[in-house]
Amino acid sequence: MHRRGFLAANLATVLAGPRALAQMKMDGTSNMASMPGMDMGDHAGHDMGAMAQDPAALPEGEALRELPLLANEAGRPGLFRARLTAEPATARFAADQDTPILAYNGTSPGPLIEAYEGDRVEITFANRIAGEQSTIHWHGMPVPADQDGNPMDPVAAGADRVYAFELPEGSAGSYWYHPHPHGRTAEQVYRGLAGAFVVKAKADPIPAAYGDTALIFTDLRLAADGSMPENTMTDMMNGRVGDHVLVNGQKNPKLAVAMGAKRRVRLYNATNARFLRLHFANAAMTVIGSDGGLLEKPVAAEEILLSPAERLELVVAFDRPGAAALTTLDYDRGWMGPGRPADAGLTLLTVDVSDTAAEAMPPLPERLRPIVPLGAPTVSRRLLFTETMAMNPTGMEMGFLINGKAFDMARVDIVARAGDTELWEIVNQADMDHPFHLHGTQFQVVERERDGKLAKPPYLAWKDTVNVARGETVRLLTRQERPGARMYHCHILEHEQLGMMGIVDVRA
Ligand code: C2O
Ligand code: CU
Ligand code: CU
Repeated sequence: MHRRGFLAANLATVLAGPRALAQMKMDGTSNMASMPGMDMGDHAGHDMGAMAQDPAALPEGEALRELPLLANEAGRPGLFRARLTAEPATARFAADQDTPILAYNGTSPGPLIEAYEGDRVEITFANRIAGEQSTIHWHGMPVPADQDGNPMDPVAAGADRVYAFELPEGSAGSYWYHPHPHGRTAEQVYRGLAGAFVVKAKADPIPAAYGDTALIFTDLRLAADGSMPENTMTDMMNGRVGDHVLVNGQKNPKLAVAMGAKRRVRLYNATNARFLRLHFANAAMTVIGSDGGLLEKPVAAEEILLSPAERLELVVAFDRPGAAALTTLDYDRGWMGPGRPADAGLTLLTVDVSDTAAEAMPPLPERLRPIVPLGAPTVSRRLLFTETMAMNPTGMEMGFLINGKAFDMARVDIVARAGDTELWEIVNQADMDHPFHLHGTQFQVVERERDGKLAKPPYLAWKDTVNVARGETVRLLTRQERPGARMYHCHILEHEQLGMMGIVDVRA
């Protein structure tokens, strides 16, 4: 389907269901805040106005649930075989209220997939979402283009398909999976479809005594009746930011550890659009890994910024008894219109540190693994991110563009050659931060530039998603090893849906 660069107020006819259409219909004379369902100023319930509703209270302080593990049905080493079914389900977020969600194998977040470097993976995907296409995209993973769940390869409602790929040596890392169908990714993800895929190293330098816990952050907005409201115009502009940030599906769950314990945690930002600037009160964070696996050496961190789709691997040391809380700090990512959510001061996880000491923990090694810097690029490219916003006689026009264009599935934007090292310069001349993501490979950020000032990243790392702040330019080195069409896009999923995406066709 051909998409125009600008989307008018009737974008709902293309992008959303009929209910959203009524909510999103607007013209130059109407006051957005007075429209039913719009709640421009108060949709998130943070600054209370006449129309605002208190967000439903969710129980807090329950014991952190382990993510269910996706069982390997292969029965022989070297092969991971399983089935993932996307289907409607219900969840109990608020007491006495069932919330209709979408789930993989009945759970949201979906089951944790754990496989090893060198494994072959064969996962049968069953799309049981009535009337909607879907796909499974293996975010960050080095899988062939035709196995990567691109919007060009939809799985029809009711259909099955097998995704098959090998996990190369050296690919250990914190990946994830989520749908990527054309025009429906944002909604399928906020309704519940996302899960963690951890590729483990055969020889892992991190002491096993630290454990290994995946913490998946998702965003939830609940209406008074327990349902999840559809996206509003504010959500489409800014990306959907809900009322609650959940960890593995729970609000501020509790974890108990002994004093002196060290824990390995993998943080996943699986929200559509929430920027998480995080701080661990009363505990010490050390970054040990990024999107694509371990760093060269551990790096102590007072705070971290996890933009949508990014992951970080940490070792957290709990050396003082009492409560250690993972909390959010203020981060201004550029908000359009009123109703900027209060993103500071949320407690995402509370760790109870006992005053009895843990058994002595082995130290974290000083070297984790080598990362070879990608060499001199032979090609350089510039990707300019812009937003356009205008009122015209038919309503508000929003455009989220790369190099002046909105996504078109039938258009190849970049032709690249497999094996070439390329310098990509991502230039954000828009009013919001845009987390840039590239499929099919891991890249290395080499430099950031803002107001004429250059900054090097604090460490060399493999990444597939990097935040590009408004007014900032990020330069990265990337190399695609395999041929095929790959997506690159803003990982605020509403922006991706509105056109901030392109295709790089990698040729052999
Ligand atoms: Cu996580 Cu193209 O996506
Ligand atoms: Cu991806
Ligand atoms: Cu964006």
